[in-house]
Amino acid sequence: MAEKSPAADVEASLLAHLNSTGEVPDSRSFASSLGVSHLELEGVIKSLSAFRIVESTDIIDETWVLTDEAKGYAAKGSPEAQLVSAIPPEGATKGALKAKLGDAFDVGMKAAARNKWIGFEKGNKDLVLRKVENFKDELQEQLKRLENGEVIPDEVINDLKRRKLITKEKSIGHSLKKGPEFVVKRKTLATDVTTEHLRSGDWKDLEFKDYNYAAQGQPIAKGYVQPLMEVREAIENIFFMMGFREMPTNNFVESSFWNFDALFQPQQHPARDSHDTFFLKAPMATRQLPEDYLEKVKQVHQSGGYGSKGYGYDWKRDEAEKNLLRTHTTAVSTRMLYKLAQEKPFAPKRYYSIDRVFRNEAVDRTHLAEFHQIEGLICDYGLTLGDLIGVLEDFFSSLGMSKLRFKPAYNPYTEPSMEIFSYHDGLKKWVEVGNSGMFRPEMLLPMGLPEGVNVIAWGLSLERPTMILYGIDNIRDLFGPKVDFNLIKSSTLCRLGL
Ligand code: PHE
Repeated sequence: MAEKSPAADVEASLLAHLNSTGEVPDSRSFASSLGVSHLELEGVIKSLSAFRIVESTDIIDETWVLTDEAKGYAAKGSPEAQLVSAIPPEGATKGALKAKLGDAFDVGMKAAARNKWIGFEKGNKDLVLRKVENFKDELQEQLKRLENGEVIPDEVINDLKRRKLITKEKSIGHSLKKGPEFVVKRKTLATDVTTEHLRSGDWKDLEFKDYNYAAQGQPIAKGYVQPLMEVREAIENIFFMMGFREMPTNNFVESSFWNFDALFQPQQHPARDSHDTFFLKAPMATRQLPEDYLEKVKQVHQSGGYGSKGYGYDWKRDEAEKNLLRTHTTAVSTRMLYKLAQEKPFAPKRYYSIDRVFRNEAVDRTHLAEFHQIEGLICDYGLTLGDLIGVLEDFFSSLGMSKLRFKPAYNPYTEPSMEIFSYHDGLKKWVEVGNSGMFRPEMLLPMGLPEGVNVIAWGLSLERPTMILYGIDNIRDLFGPKVDFNLIKSSTLCRLGL
């Protein structure tokens, strides 16, 4: 059995009172009659109301309470009374009185003079004389009465208000009646049969609490998947459903050759600057490049071929050998396409990859120096821009983005190129979601892919859709050392447009 707590006493007194008188007009005065704080009584009332044992109605009113200054006067007397009491029969100097009364001196002097309780010696304005023997300290009396909750005439209230001795305070009480489930003594419902119950035999008389089938269970302790990995898996599933295979992305370090040159990106291109790209100090240069293919890439940059004029500059092997952290996964796609071109006869393919890329960028709310790129490509005879648009519509609508728009763009390796925009219903605007295009013949033909084979491709970041789907507006909350594990634990599973 539960031990009897003070709250149980309060509850018993309240229920007994209601049982005999039928009501409690004001819980505040009831609390003081029990000698407990109103807060404590309110706790009991709340619990009893929840079970409809009592019915409670709020009483909201405003009462006058003493300010700190007034509380001092109620205890020690009004300033005028304090002043007069401090004057001995021979009188006292103002200085001496001020030293004794402190803050109350000025107010006390004024009020005592008004009451004609004090006077001054002729010719000596500094000596204060006491004019009365006995006096009534009305102010102290009024303040004490107010403190005790007695009714005070309006003129007095107005006077005290003017002297800033009282302020209004809101107070909430409750009037109480018996509720529909009223009982004089609440039965505590048992939730368990304990050994104690079995030993004493009182289990026979126990009443049990009903099961709450609507209650939520305890959260299960389990592992959690990072939102980026969650979205990555959902996107992989979309690629699988569309018949795509994954490309091997297990090399963050790449040569400039595969990252730029093979993509027909000229060696003077600004993206190849160290302000945009992280170059490696050691090993600085790549050891192996496919010589035959390298020769063809050099030719197409310098003088063109395959119907192209090329760029007409002096292509340098040193530049192509520089190692870097790959700036896009299109480097992976390029390697894959080159490999595919060596397999005869040619067979069409659909490839995808999702992995990390690196750019020498200033870090802010939406940019990090490393992020994940999603890339898809289809390689087949006779593909057109219409095929690219159709595939993008399939892909992005599976991601829950069905309103798409395309804008002409430029990439050194694709022609035509298109930026992809999607209408964001939450933000009510078009947001850029990716980049795409058809790989140029200057890139595909030197690899050895047959004439008439086209490659349509697109790329986007993994972070952007994840931030949109999870409502995260700072990329540093999603990735890196500042990630809060609780955010990951509490985020719900996201199911894209599947
Ligand atoms: N490589 C491009 C980027 O980094 C994406 C892209 C991939 C564009 C394939 C066209 C084709 O933004």
